[in-house]
This record gives sequence, C-alpha cells and structure tokens, in this order.
Amino acid sequence: MAGQDEIKEKIEKLRAEINRHNRLYYIQDNPEISDAEYDSLMQELKRQEDENPQFLTPDSPTQRVGAEPLEAFGVVDHPYPLLSLGNAFSDEDLMAWYNRTLKLLGNRAFDFVCEPKIDGLAVALTYINGQLVTGATRGDGLRGENITQNLRTIRSIPLSVPNAPARFEVRGEVYMPKSGFLKLNKEREVEEQPLFANPRNAAAGSVRQLDSRITAKRPLDTFIYMLGYVEGQATPATHWEALEQMKAWGFKTNPRNQRCKNIEEVMAYFQKWKEERESLPYEADGVVIKLNQKNIQDELGDVGREPRWAIAYKPPAVQATTKLLNIGISVGRTGTLNPTAELEPVAVGGVTIKNASLHNEDDIRRKDIRIGDTVVVQRAGEVIPEVVGPVKEKRTDKEVEFDLLKAIYSQEKGRPACPECGGEVVKPEGEVMYYCSNAACPAQAQLRIEHFASKGAMDIRGVGENISALLYDKGLAKNVADLYYLKAEQLAELEKMGEKSAQNIINAIETSKTRPLARLIFALGIKHVGDEMAEILTNEFRSIENLSQASRERLLDISTVGHKIADSIIAFFKEEDNLKILQRLKEAGVKMEETTVKAQNLPWAGKEFVVTGRLENFTRQEAEAKIKELGGAAKDSVTRKTDYVVYGADPGSKKTKAESLGITLLTENDFLKMIEEANS
Ligand code: IVH
Repeated sequence: MAGQDEIKEKIEKLRAEINRHNRLYYIQDNPEISDAEYDSLMQELKRQEDENPQFLTPDSPTQRVGAEPLEAFGVVDHPYPLLSLGNAFSDEDLMAWYNRTLKLLGNRAFDFVCEPKIDGLAVALTYINGQLVTGATRGDGLRGENITQNLRTIRSIPLSVPNAPARFEVRGEVYMPKSGFLKLNKEREVEEQPLFANPRNAAAGSVRQLDSRITAKRPLDTFIYMLGYVEGQATPATHWEALEQMKAWGFKTNPRNQRCKNIEEVMAYFQKWKEERESLPYEADGVVIKLNQKNIQDELGDVGREPRWAIAYKPPAVQATTKLLNIGISVGRTGTLNPTAELEPVAVGGVTIKNASLHNEDDIRRKDIRIGDTVVVQRAGEVIPEVVGPVKEKRTDKEVEFDLLKAIYSQEKGRPACPECGGEVVKPEGEVMYYCSNAACPAQAQLRIEHFASKGAMDIRGVGENISALLYDKGLAKNVADLYYLKAEQLAELEKMGEKSAQNIINAIETSKTRPLARLIFALGIKHVGDEMAEILTNEFRSIENLSQASRERLLDISTVGHKIADSIIAFFKEEDNLKILQRLKEAGVKMEETTVKAQNLPWAGKEFVVTGRLENFTRQEAEAKIKELGGAAKDSVTRKTDYVVYGADPGSKKTKAESLGITLLTENDFLKMIEEANS
C-alpha cells in the first residue's frame, strides 16, 4: 500500500493539475484537454478522496457540486461599502462628469480604464490565507447575504489562491452567458417552469437559491472588476495594476477592459462597445469608466453612494411606444394557449417589431394592458420582445379589456374553443396557463413533430420547423410515428425538395431509430418531462414498456419526481392515441429500451484500456467496442491511469510509454483470453 505522504502528494498533484485545466477552460477559454480527459481526472481525484477522506479539503475541485440546503442566508457586513454608479446617457452627460472631475483635480494627470458593464449581480469575495471564506451579495451596500456555498459552485471563482496576501477582497459580477440563458429557458419551457425574463434575473435567481446544488447546475460565470482591499501586501497604485494582480491570482477579468489616455479614447471605446454589444457572449448594458490612479480615486471620494471617480455610460434603453392592435392566441406544443401582442410595427433599437410576448392572462390583468392601448414595448438583448405596460395618459376610453375565454369563445360550439382545432380548453388548478385538451390538436401535433426531430431529441437532420409543418399540412406525417413510414418519393414531391435531400432525410430518420432511450423519452414531449427528467426515468425504468406501466406511487418514489410530473406521465400513457403511436414506433424498429447494461455490474468496470498497433482478429474499433461492452473504458492515450495496453503489430510509442510507466501489456492472445474469462 502506498504511504500516506505519497497519497497526499498524489492528491495534491491531481488537484493542481485539475485547477490548471479549470483555469485554461473557464478563465482563459483555451482548454488543452478534452472534456472526457478532464472528467477522468476528476473521477480519479474523487476516487482518491473517497478512499482517503483524511485528505479531503474544502478547496478541492471536487467540492463544487453544492451542499445541503440552507434554512436562510446569513448576513455579511461589508468592511467597505459596495457602491453603485452614477449614469451618463449621452456624450453631454459624460463631458459634464469629465469637466467636473477636471475642475476638482486642477492640472493633475490621470488616465482611464474602460470596462463593459456586465448585467448580472455584484458579489464580494473574501480570501483569508489564500482560501475563499466568504462570498456575499451587495445587499444594501453595507450588509449583504452570505451566499458562499452557492458561489463556490461557480468554476471561474478560485476556491484557493496560491501565494496570496494574508487577506483580501475582490468584487465582481456574477452573470449568465447568453447561450446558457437561452438553453436554460428552453429546458424550463419543456418542463413548463416559469421562464426567466433575462440573463440578469436568471443569474440572480440562480445565486439566491438556498439549495446550492441547484446553483451548481446553472451556467454561471464571473468577471472580477475591482480589488476591494488587500492586507499583507501593498495596494496597487492604479486600477489597471489591480486588474492585472487579480488576473495573476487566478480570477477572471474581462479581456475587453482597456486603458484610455483621454476622454476621446473613452468615447471611441464606447462607440466600439456599442457596435460589438450584440455579438458579445454576455449581456452588458453600458460601459463603466474609472479613473485609473488610486490616489486620485481616494482624493475624489464619494457622493452619497456613488464614487466621483467612476461613471456608467449607457445607451438609452431600447424601448418604444406603439399601438396594441389585438391580442392573438397561439397554441404551444404542449397545448398552452399563449397570448401574443399584435402591434403596429415599430422600430426598437434597429429591429422592427410586430409581435411581442404577453406571458399570460394574469400578467395582462396585473399590468392593466388593454386592446387599443398605446403600449411601451421593450427589446432586451436576446429576449423575445415584451410589452412592458400601457401608457395610460393616451387612453381614449375605447380600449377593451382582454378576456381570454371570451376571445376564444366559439358561437358554434357554445363554449371557449382552441383557436386551432376547436378543442376544449382547460385551466389546471394552480397554473396560470390555459390549455387545449385535444391530443390531436394540429397546432400541437406539428410542433410535436418538430420537437421530436430536434437536436436534443431524436436529432433527425433536415426535419426542422418548415419541413415539420409541410409534412403535417400535406398529410404525410400527422404524428411522430408517421415519420418512420415515409418514402423518399413522397418527400421528393414536397416543394423545393430535391431527390438528394429527400434521401438524406430518409437516412436521418433511419439513423434515429437507435437513439438512446432517454432521447426518445424526451422526444415524446410528455408534459413536464425535460431532458434531465428523461435521463432519470431511463435509469429507473430502462424501457418504454416499464415506464408505461409504472404506477403513480412508483413514480413518486423517485426523489426528483413530484405530483405534477407523475400525473403527467400517467396521463400520457393512458391516452389511446399515444399508445398507438408508441406501438407504431416499435413496429418501425425504433429502439424502446436501454441496451447498455449499467456499467458498474460489468466485469471490466473501472478499467482503462488503450489499444495500439494492428490486431489480427479485430479492427481497433471492434476491440474498443468489445472493451466497452464489458464495462471498460477505451482511451486514446496512455497515462498513469491506464490499466492495460493491448498491442498488435507495429505498436509504436504507446507501448514504449506503457513500459516506462509499468502498465500491464497484453498481446492479442492475452486480450482474447481475458475476454473469454470475462464472458464465462
Ligand atoms: S465598478 C464603485 N465595474 O454595476 C464602482 N461595476 O451600478 C463599483 N457592474 O453594482 C462598481 N460591471 O454590479 C463596476 N465593470 C464593472 C461592472 C460593474 C457591472 C455593476 C456592479 C455594480 C453596478 C453599479
């Protein structure tokens, strides 16, 4: 057995290695290894720590998964208040600030640092002896909430800083990248959870979770923009040097930060930012301009809660007013009746808007939005345009209050009816949305086909929004099972479809038959079952057959399944039409069960193999498939963690490396024998 010191050293080495890759990936955006290699390093560290818990430390990279939920957040006193910023909305505002500053400073020389103003939430991180001890929100500036547990889950925040001064505090912004925000909202839409209005709300909502395991799953990132204070080392003389220092400590600073010599350069920076704004991977609502010299900052001091030495320069908000012509109802994939504003076209921040979201009827009532109103519409970055509210001064008394049930009332049927199919409309208790209850509703059916074929589901390339609609309209696919009975000739008859594209689609449909079960479950579009839930259900039931027969109690036994989800699954499998669709999918050869056996029960579980050189009885792919089939992992490169190297003719450097590391070498014959043993 390895000695304690040796183990400790090994663990520390692994941590240093992982931290280095963390920095490369999360901070420098320049990874050196694949995700799979990174995962295997983490697994190795986790295994070592599990076996040697005496060496587990809170700053280990394994400790970012979140902890037990809190009852409430504690309070943190900020030793130096977290200030806010004054605003400039025009060049005139900016010049007024600049001239005031000049006056106060006489002819003293200074320069500026310009930074994007990140739209997230401010946090203060305190490190003592190089360890992150407290992470806090801004709160009222003097006292914030202790959200250390949550911040620890964010990968770009270092848990420890080697060679750090005795104590220091950095400040920065926690934000959600646009891409992460869109993905999160998409998942929430599928799971029918309320959507976040914008990345800032999403970041704030994620960071203020009492259960940090939820925070850990959210795509959060940081930019550190200020050194609060430092003890045991001199304070940098300029803000720029502070940024450099923090970067050297391992914090993520914004690469778009820039020093500017004079106010003209500042204005040019702002113009450039405005041009780039849309293409930045995060939301920024302006530029922060800071005087660089620390002694000058101190001299200028604050007014109220705002420093005189910094200002936020923002373009005016992208809002506009227009007329709300009508409120239409569109039907979503799961049957939700979504109220949508039909607007007199209006330009908002360079884009012409004709429709905007109105969320739900309660929201319309709360905001007192009426048809015919002049309304304020807003476009915030990536978000669908929304109606902010009415301009009540412009009312003429001709405006009409919106009543969803009246709007969809059918004279013919003598009841409210789905605008697409005339189906009955229901509003489940406790929900804000109305639903069309007709399982065969064409609007839903078409969207269901689109969802089924989408990338995260069965991934049938070529079947997107347009083709799904065409297939449905032409009667070629009324439901998802019909896809598997399509013929290339039928497809080729569709508008703008060549023979080649038709064949490609047929091939893509064929390929999709063997997608993992979790994808199929997700693709079915069961209400409240998103991709994560589909994975969970797959692990539990391993086949559609088993899932379809699960009782409500059995479903509720799963810790992540609540009543809403359980009821929805039960309802799905009760529906005759759904059962028919499943039967036809099965007959078409779509895989309905998970065929990979749970890896831990297999003979080679946990073992890593590398195959090199020419084998006689297998191609390399075949050998690797065999390894995986028996629960082992097939890797490309030899590392200390490799258990076996299988070699054939002309093995090359991998064999040499294995020899130097003392790894067990297997000839093809040895390998065959091992397979035989494993199978016996
Ligand atoms: S410096 C005394 N720099 O803007 C200066 N703030 O209204 C304090 N913010 O609460 C802030 N990006 O959350 C600074 N590069 C940046 C920033 C930034 C975003 C936020 C911060 C602060 C708010 C000020």
